[in-house]
Amino acid sequence: MDHFRLNNGELHCEDVALSEIAAAVGTPVYVYSTATMCRHAAALRTALAPLDDPLIAYAVKANPNSAVIATLARSGLGADVVSGGEYQRARAAGVPGAKIVFSGVGKTEEEMRLALDGGIYQFNLESVEEAELLSAVAAAMGRSAPIGFRVNPDVAGGGHAKITTGAAENKFGIAIGDAVAAYGRIAALPGLAVQGVAVHIGSQLTSLEPLERAFNRVGDLIGELRAAGHDIRVADLGGGLGVPYDPDQPPPPTPAEYGAMVCRIAGDWGTRLVFEPGRLIVGNAGVLLSRAIRVKPGATDPFVIVDAAMNDLMRPALYDAWHRIEAVRPTGAQRTANVVGPVCETGDTFATARRMDQVVAGDLVVFRTAGAYAAAMSSTYNSRPLTPEVLVDGSRWAVVRPRVGVDALIAGDRVPDWIGGCAGEPSS
Ligand code: LLP
Repeated sequence: MDHFRLNNGELHCEDVALSEIAAAVGTPVYVYSTATMCRHAAALRTALAPLDDPLIAYAVKANPNSAVIATLARSGLGADVVSGGEYQRARAAGVPGAKIVFSGVGKTEEEMRLALDGGIYQFNLESVEEAELLSAVAAAMGRSAPIGFRVNPDVAGGGHAKITTGAAENKFGIAIGDAVAAYGRIAALPGLAVQGVAVHIGSQLTSLEPLERAFNRVGDLIGELRAAGHDIRVADLGGGLGVPYDPDQPPPPTPAEYGAMVCRIAGDWGTRLVFEPGRLIVGNAGVLLSRAIRVKPGATDPFVIVDAAMNDLMRPALYDAWHRIEAVRPTGAQRTANVVGPVCETGDTFATARRMDQVVAGDLVVFRTAGAYAAAMSSTYNSRPLTPEVLVDGSRWAVVRPRVGVDALIAGDRVPDWIGGCAGEPSS
C-alpha cells in the first residue's frame, strides 16, 4: 500500500500533484511519501508487537537521505549501518547509538572507533580476524564492544544472485558450522562483550521459507552457544522481506505473515530480536519522476527516451529489475514501447516491449517502487547532474537533496598546473 494516487486524472504523492514538483524542481527527481514510510514501519511494528521489546533498525543503505532517516528515527526506529558514513548519517538524523547495529564486511579501525565513541548497540562481526581487531581497538580505548557474529546459514535467499548473501559461497559472515569454535576463540579477548548472533540471507525475498530455514538454524546455534557457556541475549534476524514491484506477480509475504513466522520460530528463544528492514520500509514510498524527451521509432516497438537514466536508477541495468512505469496524466491509451534513458549504453534500458500508458514527448512519467536502492545508488555517469530528492508529507513538500549541477561537478575536479599534454602529440 502506498500513497501515490490519481486525483483529478493526475498522479499525486499524498496531497501534492507530481506535476507541481516537476515544475518547481525539474526532472528527473525522486519523490518520497512520508505517510507510506510511516505506514510500512507501523505495519512491521504491529506484526512484531507480541515480541518483547524488538529493535527495528532501518537499513540505512536502502535510502540514506537524512530526512528519511530522521522521519523513521522520530517513529522510534533504530538504524542498521554498514559504514562510518552511514553511522554518522544515522547519528546526525537523531538515531541514538543505543539503537544502532553496525554490519558490513570490512569494518576499519577508524569505523570501529567512531561507533565506540558515539555509542553502539551491537557490532555484527564477520570474522574472527575482525573480532581480534575490534578487541584491540576497544581495549586501547578502555571500552567494551558489544558484539555478535554474523553467521552464514548456507541458505540462499534473494531476488537475484547479486543480492543473495546467505549461500555458503557468499562473502558474508562465518559459516554456521564454524560458529561455536569462533565464539570459543574470541570469548577471552579483552574489550569484547559477546551478546548476540546475527543473520541476513538476502534481499527482495518473496517467500518466507528460506528465512524460516535460516532462523531455525540460528535457533539451534543459540542453543549450542549457550551450552558452550556463551551468554547469547540478542538475535539479529536481518532484513530482506520483498516488496511488490510488478502487480502481475504474486505479492510477497506481508509484514503480518513475516511477524507471525518470526514469533512462531524465535518468540521463545529468550533473546531480544533485532530486525534490519530496508526495502520494506521505503521501497514503495518513492517514485522517480521523469519526463519523456522524445519518442522515436524502433525495429519493433518505439523507444520512449526519458530524462532519467541508468545513473539515476541503476537497478534495471544491474539486476534486470522491473519497475512499473506510468504516465502522470494517463489518457487511458496503452501501447507497447521500450523505455530508455539518454546514457550511451544499451544497458540504459528501463523496459523492453512493455505494455504501458502511451506517452508522448513532454509527458511526465514515474518509475514506481523507487524509494529503496535507487537514489542511494545513483551517480553522475555521463556527467549528468545528481538527481534531487523531495519529501512529501500531506500537502507539504520540500527538496531534501538539491540537484547537484554540472557546474558543481566540474568545480570538484582539479587540473594540476603541471599538465602538459601527452608527450609527442601536437598541442593543437
Ligand atoms: N541487513 C544487511 C546486513 C544487509 O546487507 C541488507 C541489504 C539489509 C539488512 C536490508 O535488506 P532489505 O530489507 O532492504 O532487503 N541494491 C540491491 C539490494 C542490496 C541489499 C543489500 N543488503 C537492490 O537494489 O535490490
